[in-house]
Amino acid sequence: MRLAPVLSSAYLGWRDRLAGNAAFRRWAGRFPLTRWIARRHARALFDLNAGFVYSQVLQACVQLDLFAPLAKGAQGTAALALHCRLSPERVLVLLRAAAALRLIAPAGPDRFRLGALGAALLDNPAVLGMVRHHALFYRDLLDPVQLLASGGPGQLAEYWAYVGTSPDNAGPAAARVADYSALMSASQSLVADQILDAYSMAPHRMLLDVGGGEGVFARAALQRHPRLQASVFDLPAVAARVAMAPGAAALATRLRGIGGDFRAGPLPAGADLITLVRVLHDHDDDVVRAVLRAARQALPPGGVLLVAEPLAETPGAEPMGHAYFGLYFLAMGSGRPRSFAVYRDLLAEAGFTRVRQRRTAIPLQCSLIEAHVGDRGDVTFG
Ligand SMILES: C[S@@+](CC[C@H](N)C(=O)[O-])C[C@H]1O[C@@H](n2cnc3c(N)ncnc32)[C@H](O)[C@@H]1O
Repeated sequence: MRLAPVLSSAYLGWRDRLAGNAAFRRWAGRFPLTRWIARRHARALFDLNAGFVYSQVLQACVQLDLFAPLAKGAQGTAALALHCRLSPERVLVLLRAAAALRLIAPAGPDRFRLGALGAALLDNPAVLGMVRHHALFYRDLLDPVQLLASGGPGQLAEYWAYVGTSPDNAGPAAARVADYSALMSASQSLVADQILDAYSMAPHRMLLDVGGGEGVFARAALQRHPRLQASVFDLPAVAARVAMAPGAAALATRLRGIGGDFRAGPLPAGADLITLVRVLHDHDDDVVRAVLRAARQALPPGGVLLVAEPLAETPGAEPMGHAYFGLYFLAMGSGRPRSFAVYRDLLAEAGFTRVRQRRTAIPLQCSLIEAHVGDRGDVTFG
């Protein structure tokens, strides 16, 4: 038995027993050398307990479109009350709450301006759309124990119209895919550049973006690489939207939408690069295995597969994985957050080689895994 893990586990057990002792916590809060730790823990626990309230303050700001008037400069409480159609008294409750959360900031007596976080929301349909969408998710979380006990799905499954459908039918109707397709297109700005910066598509000839939605990511790739051609493979009702999306006409000769179901058969051949952007985490392991096998079969020797999504166990962004997405997918009724190690095994099982993780600018939003068809090689992080 190795000594280091035994000592470390003994130390952690001792530390947890101390933290669980009320008398020790009282002492640590008063003793100068431990006070900062006690305060940090108290704050972390308070934030966990109050997180839903913070989210709802943000939700109210977004629903009331509070940031738009502040984009023009500092405003008085009376003007903001008029804008929000709330009494000055009530708007002040919201303004003070939003200021405490750095969404806005005080700018003199009875005046407020944009804060660091509010400014980042301006002209940011990606995050604004996600905030609005969370009103639905949080309904499913009102009784988390019930959600865990039932195993889902909640109302989120209605929103993501592909959840629970059978691969044999024609897929969800056009009206049922419109909302999620628009949300995905709006939020592509959070990921497309990160992927294209992390991996150069210059050596490739033909991209197949599987589950590519309305084609926002494929169009960003085509704009960056003028010699590239692309297809977007998605459910028929979504693939039909590729040609109608803004900016589609200018790239019509280089991009087409192909309707199909990736659970139901092979993927179209001809591409030397396949991308799966924010797709796999939506699906259970059996579907993921089938999609990866189909991608492996569709690619020629030397072909590359890119898997891009927020990964579980990402250093520095741990709560995003098993906490946020873990419960999100439970409410959705499909999928699970996976770490790089889990994908590495699934990709190797599907026959891919040289599986490596590429660095992206903000791994909280998007990580990138590259896998090859051909020579066997190391699994690396770089
Ligand atoms: C979460 S969205 C991601 C869209 C896009 N890749 C992006 O990042 O904006 C998942 C996409 O996968 C598509 N999809 C889900 N199940 C599918 C299936 N069985 N066959 C083909 N596409 C599917 C959905 O229609 C949707 O466009």
